[in-house]
Amino acid sequence: MLLPRYTDITHGLCQRPARISPKYFYDQQGSQLFEAITQLPEYYPTRTENALMRHHAAAIARAVGTGRVLIELGAGSCRKARALCETVRPSCFVGVDISADFLEDSVASLQRDLPWLDARAVGGDITHGVDLPRDIPRAGRLVFYPGSSIGNFDPPHALELLGHMRELVDDDGGLLIGIDLPKDVAILEAAYDDGAGVTAEFNRNVLRHVNRLIGSDFDLAQWQHRAFFNREDSRIEMHLEALADAQVRWPGGGRVFERGERIHTENSYKYPLPVFTDMLARAGFAQAQAWTDERDWFAVVHARP
Ligand code: AVI
Repeated sequence: MLLPRYTDITHGLCQRPARISPKYFYDQQGSQLFEAITQLPEYYPTRTENALMRHHAAAIARAVGTGRVLIELGAGSCRKARALCETVRPSCFVGVDISADFLEDSVASLQRDLPWLDARAVGGDITHGVDLPRDIPRAGRLVFYPGSSIGNFDPPHALELLGHMRELVDDDGGLLIGIDLPKDVAILEAAYDDGAGVTAEFNRNVLRHVNRLIGSDFDLAQWQHRAFFNREDSRIEMHLEALADAQVRWPGGGRVFERGERIHTENSYKYPLPVFTDMLARAGFAQAQAWTDERDWFAVVHARP
C-alpha cells in the first residue's frame, strides 16, 4: 500500500514538468554517492570550503567562540563537524540528518574519536523545522550548515529554513553556513556533470529510491542525467530525461513520459554574497562576517541575531 507520506512524490511525478524533491537523493546509496561526488576533481565546493575552514580556523574559532552546543544540519558523514569540533571544542554536538542510519554510524564514529564530546544523532527532515530533544541546552547554540546545501532550496524556502535556524538559537546563538558563489558557467556545469559519471549515477539513484518508497517501476537505464546553469535564476538545474517513451506504474497510479521529457530533480542556487547576507538579515541574523577564497568561489559566513 502507498504510504500517505509519500504522496508528495506521486504528486510531483504527475506534474508537467514532473519533479522529485532532492531530499530523496539521500538513501544509503545516495549518501555514499554524494560522498564520492565531494572527492571529484570537478566538484570544487567541498574542497574549497574545507580549505577555507582550515585556512581561517583560528579566526572562525574566535568569532564563534568555544564551549558551544554545536548543531549540524544535514550532518551526513560529520566530517566537517569533526574538524570544527577540534578547533572550537563544543560541549555538545548534535548531528541532524534525514538519512538516520548513515548519520548514526557517523556520530558513533565521531564519539569514538572524540571521547570528551557529548555527541548525539537526531534523524529528521530539516525542511519541516527541527525538533531537538529537550535536554539539549538552548544557551550558546551554534547552528552549522556547511556544504552550500542552502542552495538546494528555492529562495522563499531558503528564507523559511534560515528562519527555522533562527528559532533554534537564542540571542546568544549563531549560525555558521557555507554558500557557493556565482562563477564561470563552464566550471559550474562541470561540477554537476563530471567526467566519471558519478553525478549522473547520483541523479539516477533517486529513481531507485523512489521505486522502493512508492513501489514504482522506473527503469534507470531509460533515463539520462542533464545538468545546466540557468543564468536568469542563478542556479544549476539537474533533470532526468527519458531516453525513450516510458510507461511508469506505481500502486494506485502511473504515467507515461514521452522521449525527451524531464523530471526536475534539483536546483543549486549560487547566491552573490550581498544577496545572501540580505536574506540572512531578513531571517533574523542581522550581523554577518564572511570568509571567502582568493577566487571568490565560496563563502563561509558567521551570522548572529
Ligand atoms: C548537497 N548539495 C549542496 C549539493 C550541491 O552542490 O548542490 C548536491 C549535489 N548535487 C549534485 N552534486 C552535488
